[in-house]
Amino acid sequence: MILVTGGAGFIGSNFVLDWLGNPATRGEPVLNLDALTYAGNLANLANLQGNARHVFVHGDITDRALLDRLLAEHRPRAVVHFAAESHVDRSIHGPGAFMKTNVDGTFTLLEAARGYWHTLGDADKTAFRFLHVSTDEVYGSLAPGAPAFTEDHRYEPNSPYSASKAASDHLVRAWHHTYGLPVLTTNCSNNYGPYHFPEKLIPLMIVNALAGKPLPVYGDGQQIRDWLYVRDHCSAIRTVLAHGRLGQTYNVGGWNEMANIDIVQTVCSLLDELRPDPAGPYSRLITFVADRPGHDRRYAIDARKIERELGWRPAETFQSGIRKTVQWYLDHADWVAQVQSGAYREWVTTNYAAR
Ligand code: NAD
Ligand code: DAU
Repeated sequence: MILVTGGAGFIGSNFVLDWLGNPATRGEPVLNLDALTYAGNLANLANLQGNARHVFVHGDITDRALLDRLLAEHRPRAVVHFAAESHVDRSIHGPGAFMKTNVDGTFTLLEAARGYWHTLGDADKTAFRFLHVSTDEVYGSLAPGAPAFTEDHRYEPNSPYSASKAASDHLVRAWHHTYGLPVLTTNCSNNYGPYHFPEKLIPLMIVNALAGKPLPVYGDGQQIRDWLYVRDHCSAIRTVLAHGRLGQTYNVGGWNEMANIDIVQTVCSLLDELRPDPAGPYSRLITFVADRPGHDRRYAIDARKIERELGWRPAETFQSGIRKTVQWYLDHADWVAQVQSGAYREWVTTNYAAR
C-alpha cells in the first residue's frame, strides 16, 4: 500500500479517488493520514465508504509516535506527502501553522520515513519512495516575458506559505543527499477542479457569483498564474512516483498562463451560459479590492523535463477543465453549503473585511 498524507484536502482527495479508481494502480490500497483541519473534508471521500482499500486515519504529521506506529503496522512501499497549510492569504494573517505543519511536519515525516526505511529488507528498501508534493511558488515572481521556471531556477519564496514550502523542499533534498532516502519532489502550478475549497480564487468566484456576492479581485487583477486541472496533477504524481529518477525534482504545469481578471471573466461567462442570472451578467459583480501584501506578479512553469523524461503532458485544456469545474460546482450545491458553514465563514470576515 501507499501512505498518503493530507488525503482529505483538495488535491489529496482527488489523488486518492483517482488512485483507487485507476486500473493502472492495480487495486493498491491507500492509507490516508489527515488531521482534518478546516481544509480537510471527509465528504470528498464519501464515494469510498465501505471500500476496504481505503484506510483513513485521523491524525497529525507532527505526531512522531503515530507515524512510527502507522508505518510499522501498514508497511507502505511509498509515502505521497500532500499534507500542508496551503493558502497564501492565511499564511499572511497567521504564519505559525504553516511553520508547524509544512516545516516541522515534513521534518517529522522524513525522520519517521527514514527510521522505517532502515528496517526494510534490501529489495523493499530499493523500491521505497518518498514523494514530496510542492509548489511553483518557491521560485518567487517572474518579470513579464522572463522564461518560465525550470527545475534549476533559484529559490526566491516571498510569502510565509512559499517560504515554508521552500524549507520543506530543502529538507527533502537534504534527507536524500545526506541519508540516501529515496525521495522525489514535484513543484506544481495552480490547480483547479472539484473539491477545491472556496477560499481559493476559482471556487470563490463561482460560489460568490451564484450567491450574488461581490467577486473580489486583488489589485489590478493582472497577476499571472499557470493553471492545471487537478486530475492532471494527480496523473503527474502517479507518473513521477512510478518512473521519476531518485533525488530529482519535476516541475508540473498546464502550459496555461492567464491573468486573474481573465480567469474571473471566464468563470462569469461560463456561469452566464450554464446558470444565467435574471439580474444580469455575473461580471457586474467584479470588485477590485486591496492587493495581497507581497503579491507575486507572475508564475509560469516550464514542464519540459517531466514530458521529456517521463512522457507526461496534461490531458485537459483550460477550456475543457474550467467548464467541467464550473459544472461540478453547479451540480454539488450541497458540498458547497457544507464547507461554507463554520470555519470558512469566520475566514471570510477576517480576510475581506479590511480590504
Ligand atoms: P488543502 O489545504 O486543500 O489540503 C491540505 C490537507 O492537509 C487537508 O486535508 C488538511 O486537513 C491536511 N493537513 C493540514 N495540516 C495537517 C497536519 N499537520 N497533519 C495531517 N494533515 C494535515 O491543500 P491542497 O490545495 O490540496 O494542496 C495539497 C498539497 O499540494 C500542499 O502540499 C500544497 O502545498 C501543494 N500544492 C498545491 C497547489 C494548489 O494549487 N492547490 C499547487 C501546487 C502544490
Ligand atoms: O502556484 C501554486 C499555488 O497556487 C499553491 O502552492 C497554493 O497552495 C495555492 O493556494 C495557489 O496559490 P495562489 O495564491 O496562487 O492561489 P489563490 O487561489 O489564493 O490566488 C490565485 C490568484 O488570485 C492570486 O494572484 C491571488 C488572486 N486572488 C485570490 C483570491 C482568493 C484574488 O484576486 N482574489 C481573491 O479573492
